[in-house]
Amino acid sequence: MSTFKVAQRMERIVPFYVMDLLARAKKLEAAGRSIIHMEVGEPDFTAPRAVIDAAQAALAEGKTGYTPATGIPELRQAIAGHYRDRFGLPLEPRRIVVTPGSSGALQLLMGVLINPGQQVLMTDPGYPCNKNFVEFVSGEPVSLPVGPDTDYQLTAEMVAKAWTERTRAVLVASPANPTGTLLSRQELEQIYRAVRSRGGVLIVDEIYQGLIYDQEPFSALEVADDIFVINSFSKYFGMTGWRLGWLVAPADCIDSIDCLAQNIFLSCSAPAQYAALQAFSPECLAIFEQRRQIFRQRRDFLLPALQQIGFSVAVAPQGAFYLYADCSALTDDSFRLAYDLLDTQGVAVTPGKDFGCNRSAHHIRFAYTTDVDRMSEGVERIRRYFS
Ligand SMILES: Cc1ncc(COP(=O)(O)O)c(C=O)c1O
Repeated sequence: MSTFKVAQRMERIVPFYVMDLLARAKKLEAAGRSIIHMEVGEPDFTAPRAVIDAAQAALAEGKTGYTPATGIPELRQAIAGHYRDRFGLPLEPRRIVVTPGSSGALQLLMGVLINPGQQVLMTDPGYPCNKNFVEFVSGEPVSLPVGPDTDYQLTAEMVAKAWTERTRAVLVASPANPTGTLLSRQELEQIYRAVRSRGGVLIVDEIYQGLIYDQEPFSALEVADDIFVINSFSKYFGMTGWRLGWLVAPADCIDSIDCLAQNIFLSCSAPAQYAALQAFSPECLAIFEQRRQIFRQRRDFLLPALQQIGFSVAVAPQGAFYLYADCSALTDDSFRLAYDLLDTQGVAVTPGKDFGCNRSAHHIRFAYTTDVDRMSEGVERIRRYFS
C-alpha cells in the first residue's frame, strides 16, 4: 500500500464500474469465451481512410510540434465552416478552442467558470465524469433526478427550483448519455432564460450531435451566442483515441480559456489536428452519414428486441448509440444482472449505477456499438438467461 495520502477529493471521485466489468470481459475473452460487447461507449467504426492518410502525411512532414493552445487556425476555421454549412451559423473561428476531447473542454470550462464551493446543476442519470470535473475544481456538483416525464432532461422549472445563491452553472447534454434523449429547442430556450436571468452560465454538451435519427439536429448556439458548447471528434467522427474535441465560448472568455489551456495542456496532438481537417471533407462526411444510418438501424433492431424480453424503454432514444432500459420487471439489482449476464451468457452491458443513483438499480445501458448480427446473438443469450 502507498505511504502517500491522496487528496481528499479522491474520496468523492469514483472510477467507472464498467471498467471492472470490461476487464473481466477481456479476461473471459482471452480465455476463449465469446463475448458480445454492448457496454462500450465508443463507435465500432474507426476514422475514415482519408483522416488516417492525413495523419500519416502530417507525421511524415514533421508537423509534430506544439501548436497554439487553442488549436491550429486551419482547424478552428474548419470547425467554424462546419457550423456554417450544417446550421447556417456564422461563427468567428476565434470563439472555437480545440481541446483534448470534450473531456478537455469540460475541464477547461470548469477551471475558467467555477469557483470553489460553487454549484453546477446536472442530470441523474447522466455522464458520470461530469460531477468529477466539478469536483476537480472544488465545486459542488448537484445531480437532479430526471425521468421519462421530462425525457430524462432538465427543465427550466427544475433549474429554477434547484437554484441557490451558490449555483453558477447548468450542464446539459443533447443527445444525452446514457439515455440518448434530446432537449427540444423550446426547452433549451427556457433553460437558457432561467439560467441567464439568474446570472449563471449554460453549458451544452453536443458530443452526440451528429448522431440524431428522427429529426433535424440543431445547435444550442442557434438559441444564443452566450451558451458554452462542447463537442468532439470522438463519436460522430469515430476518433475516440485521437483525443480531439472543441468548445465554443463567448468571445470575451477566450483569452482566459487560452491561458488555462496553455498551462494545463500546452496544445493538443498536432498530427491529430491536421488529420481532423480531413474529417470535414465531403468524402468523409458522406461516410459519417452512412454510419449514422447504420446506428439508426441498430437502434430500430435493439429497441423492440429488448422490449420483447421484458425491458422497458419509456422514451425511445433519438440520438447517440445508447438505450437506457428499465429492468425492474426482471430484477431489482441491475449491477448483479450485468455481472450475471457477463459470466453466464458472455454479454457485456453497463449497470445503471455508473450514471448516478436515481433508480440506477433498475436500469441497464445497452450501447449499440456492435453490428446487428452480434446484437441479435446477444439478445438471444439474454432471452435464454431469463428463461
Ligand atoms: C456525454 C459525454 N460527454 C463527454 C464525453 C467525453 O468524450 P471525449 O473526451 O472522448 O470527447 C463522453 C464520452 O463518452 C460523453 O458520453
